[in-house]
Amino acid sequence: KIIPVILSGGVGSRLWPLSREHFPKQCLPLTDAQYSLLQQTANRTKALDVSAPIVVCNEDHRFLIAQQLQEIGVTGASIVLEPKGRNTAPAIALAVLEAEHKNLENALLLVLPADHVIRDVTAFEKAIQQAAELAELDALVTFGVQPTRPETGYGYIRAGDDFAVAEFVEKPNLETAQSYLDSGNYLWNSGMFLFKAKAYLSELACHRADISEAVTLAYQARNEDMDFVRIDPEAFAACPEDSIDYAVMEPTKNAKVVPYAGDWSDIGAWDALYDYAEKDAEQNVLLGDVMAESSNNCLVRSESRLVAAVGVNNLVIVETADAVLVMDKNNAQDVKKIVKRLKTEE
Ligand code: GDD
Ligand code: MG
Repeated sequence: KIIPVILSGGVGSRLWPLSREHFPKQCLPLTDAQYSLLQQTANRTKALDVSAPIVVCNEDHRFLIAQQLQEIGVTGASIVLEPKGRNTAPAIALAVLEAEHKNLENALLLVLPADHVIRDVTAFEKAIQQAAELAELDALVTFGVQPTRPETGYGYIRAGDDFAVAEFVEKPNLETAQSYLDSGNYLWNSGMFLFKAKAYLSELACHRADISEAVTLAYQARNEDMDFVRIDPEAFAACPEDSIDYAVMEPTKNAKVVPYAGDWSDIGAWDALYDYAEKDAEQNVLLGDVMAESSNNCLVRSESRLVAAVGVNNLVIVETADAVLVMDKNNAQDVKKIVKRLKTEE
C-alpha cells in the first residue's frame, strides 16, 4: 500500500491577484477549468494502490482543503494542521508520525507537492512502481527530471550506478547550475519522494536530531477531533525550519533516484503558467472573457469582466473583482514585491 502525503504549505504569492492569503494557489483551478492543483494531485494517485492521503497544510486553509477533497470523493484523509509552516522537513515528519499513529508504519509514503501539474499519468505511475521496489529496501527515493535550463530554484542530482544518488545539491548558484546542465550528468529533483515512514525518520534523526525531536514533541502534544489533527503551536514553533532537501537529501547516503520521463511543471509564477498552457496562433493564452488584437505572447485572464488587449506583447494581465495585474512577463518573480507591500502598507 502507498499513502499519498500531500504537502499543501505556502500561498503561492507570485500568482497574485488570483492567489490570496486565504485562498492559496494550490486550491485554484489554474491549469484545469474544473479541478484545483490540490484536487489534480489527489486524483493523480487514485489509479495506484493507495490508502487515504495525509494532507499537511496551514490551519487557515483547513475548511477549503477538506471541502476540495470531499468534492472529488476522497474520504478518510488525515488533515494535519500546522499553526505556522516550518518548511518541508518538519511537515513530512508530521505526516510520517501520523502514518505511524495509524499503524501504517510499513506502508510507503509518496510525498507530493500540491502545486505540481503532470499530464502524463502513465509515466508517473510507471516511475512510482519502479521506485516502490527501491523504497521497499529502505531507500529514500527521489524522482529525477531531465533539466532544460540552469534553474537555480531546484535541486540537482547526479545519478550513480543502480539508481544510487551520487550527489544531491539543493539550489546551486547560476554558474554551478549551468555547469551541471552542460555536463549532461545531472537531473532535477522533482520534489516528489517515496520512502517508508521508518526510513525517513531514522535519516532525519541521524542528520537533524533537533528537528526530529521537536516535531515528535509537537505531534505528541496534538489535538485531534473528527476532522483535523491540530499540531501544538508552541511546541511546533520551537522546531527549526528546514527543507527535506537540505536536511535529509543532501547528507543522506541512503537515497536513490528513479528517472521520471513524463511532463512535470512547478507552477510557481505567471510565466510558468504561460509556458505550461496551450497557446493560440498568436502565442497568446487567453482565459475567460478576453479579446486580443495585434497582441502576441500574452497571458490574459479575466474573472469578472471583459478584458481586451490591443497591440501589446509579452504581457501578463490578470483581472479579478478587486485587483488587476498588468505585468511584463519577464518580471513574473516580482509580483511577490507587490504582495509584500500590500501586507505592510495595508
Ligand atoms: N505543509 C507544508 N508546510 N508544506 C510546505 C511547507 C510547509 O512548511 N513548505 C513548503 N511546502 C510545500 C509547498 O507548498 C510545495 O508544494 C512543496 O512543499 C515544496 O516546497 P517549495 O517551497 O515549493 O520548494 P521549492 O520549489 O523551493 O524546492 C523543492 O521543489 C523543487 C521542485 O519543484 C525542492 O524539493 C527542490 O529540490 C525541487 O527541485
Ligand atoms: Mg516549489
